[in-house]
Amino acid sequence: MSDFAKLIIGEREFELPIHQGTEGHRAIDISKLLAQTGHITLDDGYGNTGATESQITYVDGENGVLRYRGYAIEDLAQRCDFTETAYLLIYGELPTAEQLEEFRASIRTHTLLHEGMKQIFAGFPPDAHPMAILSSVVGALAIYSGDTIDARDPEQQQLAIYRMMAKMPTIAAFSYKQSIGQPFIYPENRLTYCQNFLQMMFAVPSERYEMDPDFVDALNLLLILHADHGQNCSTSAVRMVGSSTVNLFSSISAGICALWGALHGGANEACINMLDMIRADGGNLGKYIDRAKDPNDEFRLMGFGHRVYKNYDPRATIIKEVCHKLLAKQKKPDPIFQLAQELEEVALNDSYFVDRRLYPNVDFYSGIIYRAMGIPENMFTVLFALGRLPGWIAHWREMHLAPTMRIHRPRQLYTGSPKREFVPLIKR
Ligand code: ACO
Repeated sequence: MSDFAKLIIGEREFELPIHQGTEGHRAIDISKLLAQTGHITLDDGYGNTGATESQITYVDGENGVLRYRGYAIEDLAQRCDFTETAYLLIYGELPTAEQLEEFRASIRTHTLLHEGMKQIFAGFPPDAHPMAILSSVVGALAIYSGDTIDARDPEQQQLAIYRMMAKMPTIAAFSYKQSIGQPFIYPENRLTYCQNFLQMMFAVPSERYEMDPDFVDALNLLLILHADHGQNCSTSAVRMVGSSTVNLFSSISAGICALWGALHGGANEACINMLDMIRADGGNLGKYIDRAKDPNDEFRLMGFGHRVYKNYDPRATIIKEVCHKLLAKQKKPDPIFQLAQELEEVALNDSYFVDRRLYPNVDFYSGIIYRAMGIPENMFTVLFALGRLPGWIAHWREMHLAPTMRIHRPRQLYTGSPKREFVPLIKR
């Protein structure tokens, strides 16, 4: 196969190099296109644009395959814990026992927040969405970790990574405690990453907190499943912002904002709200399927469809299994889980969804587990952010290590008014 693509513009012919990925995918290199031809490419929503080469995560949307650094998501979900997966994503290899312990210890050292940061939480109104709190307080880490904001200094970069990994669960849990008016529960470093988070979320000083080990396992698994997904909206935001060489905390804060939207990480909250609404409306699935299909209705089936997956999202498969396991512990069947399964069944047999290849994505069933764990709806996307953190860090670091790193600056095709004469205010 040729290593060049030929592009013909008018009378002229240009050769564009083709790059080959590890799994046989091919990409036409258009980086010199403007200089050589005077043309740019146009790709609204970047559906066909490779923004970078990356060695972190492989997604095969046609076949429903997801791998971190070459390892199948199914293996990692079964055999790793979240910090081990984070190490793999960030540094590229599964850690040895010694490396893993060192990584865990380095994170543990930084779990506390500066006491002054509690004033920031106190300033938020009680109904503030925890995602808004999370992005603000993570942004504020750039102030409270001022000695690690030089993104080009490898030592500061490393320390910023430990701090970011360590403080995110604390900030996430504090934002919840603030919203319900309970005292902050400080991190306890004898606990694991997931145990610590659950304890900070649910413990109160006046009572002993009994942690359900199945919840710890479920959280660990969900965080692993969310840990990275290539150049998605929030990761692209982290890379875009980070490409200006701004510090890690500011870059991650931007990623959290991007994740909040209902078309991205906010879909888990939107999905459970949708299921509640359908149930409250009598469980009339046909009505909502019809609404989702109606081009004049804004309603979409939340937790369905994906830009990359045109097959069952492998993460949804694993999450659905965990739903079965976790909910089996409950005395009564969960009506929302039942409804979700029925909705899936109806949609997967409907030609609208079949033709468009719309399947459940990672967000379709995750909210059901979070709810079973007692996590309130407005914290669902915060949990997603907690899981996606190592992926964001890995991409930010990979970008900084790349010798080709330059500021991200897409072009545009201007379609506005041609040059016109200025009209003074009095004449308009
Ligand atoms: N319900 C109904 N119709 C849908 C849905 C849905 N959930 N998703 C896509 N479609 C339809 C579109 O209307 C479009 O139909 P058309 O060809 O007749 O115009 C077609 O399927 C293609 O959809 P696009 O919006 O072009 O697909 P895109 O790749 O731009 O969007 C997205 C992907 C945003 C995930 C979309 O499927 C969606 O809105 N899903 C619901 C929200 C959701 O679950 N988001 C979470 C994604 S996973 C994540 O970010 C972690």
